[in-house]
Amino acid sequence: MADIILGIESSCDDTSAAVIRDGYLLSNVIASQQVHKDYGGVVPELASRAHELNIVPVVSQALAKAGVEASELSAIAFTRGPGLLGSLLVGTSFAKALSLSLDCPMIMVNHLQGHILANFVRQEGRPVVEPAFPYLCLLVSGGNSQIVKVSSPLEFEILGQTIDDAVGEAFDKCSKMMGLGYPGGPVIDRLASQGNPDRFHFAKPNIPGLDYSFSGVKTSLLYFVRDEMAKDPLFMENNKEDICASFQKTLIDILMDKLIKASKQTGIREITIGGGVSANSGLRSRITLEGKKRGWRTYLPEFKFTTDNAAMIAIAGYFRYLAGEKTPLDIAPVSRIADF
Ligand code: KG4
Repeated sequence: MADIILGIESSCDDTSAAVIRDGYLLSNVIASQQVHKDYGGVVPELASRAHELNIVPVVSQALAKAGVEASELSAIAFTRGPGLLGSLLVGTSFAKALSLSLDCPMIMVNHLQGHILANFVRQEGRPVVEPAFPYLCLLVSGGNSQIVKVSSPLEFEILGQTIDDAVGEAFDKCSKMMGLGYPGGPVIDRLASQGNPDRFHFAKPNIPGLDYSFSGVKTSLLYFVRDEMAKDPLFMENNKEDICASFQKTLIDILMDKLIKASKQTGIREITIGGGVSANSGLRSRITLEGKKRGWRTYLPEFKFTTDNAAMIAIAGYFRYLAGEKTPLDIAPVSRIADF
């Protein structure tokens, strides 16, 4: 009999449900919330209310698109955390209710492990291109910047992580500061593609080991723009492409320096990226380029699997289902990774 897993993701501002059968994707429905646009960031209370409105239609659509009846499900995988507590509560409560009503086991998934395993979502008619274990994942999102060693679908070791801001946060905060809008990553990415990455230089941190820091480069950009604007009020407007290209290059340099170091230290040359910032075109081409130079095998997730989605939760849950895991009904969501 086939193993059919429903995945539910509600950690931030996307309500998503996906169905996979024996590891192959049947559907992946995502309802993105527009309600935050006017606020320059996600408003937690509005996010949980929108999840409440979206969760039933999103799950129904995912099942209908997959051509699967709820009674056929083998397990319900859901994001337990990390993320916004109110948002997580909606997905977790829904998973519990469905699990109870269908008498179907539920399986909790760490959202970050979903991003890390996104390359394992198989699609009918597409070649299977999956990293071999152990591999390194550069996990870069709005809340995290980590290098993770993945020894199996159930074994993860954080080799290094940011000691302050996440790289996505640096993109978002600096975009806001430059008046370019939210979320900042895609805007800076687009402007950077039209600019000169070597024109301006921003301070790079000097952090020992494999840890990251992004708060210094953010401050460096802030002071640079402030000083230049004092001399020429049109400086930002006339140079935004070059500023974005130079700033993005600095962030990518910081990420790549540690990733190269981690590969050298561990001898691992299977390299993946995951999380929202893995959609960045500059980072994707740089990883491919470094990979060719260094004999890495690199795996870049499809764009639709870089941002929050339930397909990655379903596949991470599938591996746990195969290992016989079940989550008890009294489980509570957690907002922080340290609590996982
Ligand atoms: O993984 P994600 O969707 O959400 C969580 O943080 O959980 O990541 C969102 C982050 C935001 O900071 C956004 O600006 C960034 O991913 N992002 C990008 C790009 N697309 C999204 N950053 C750089 N370049 C992009 N193309």
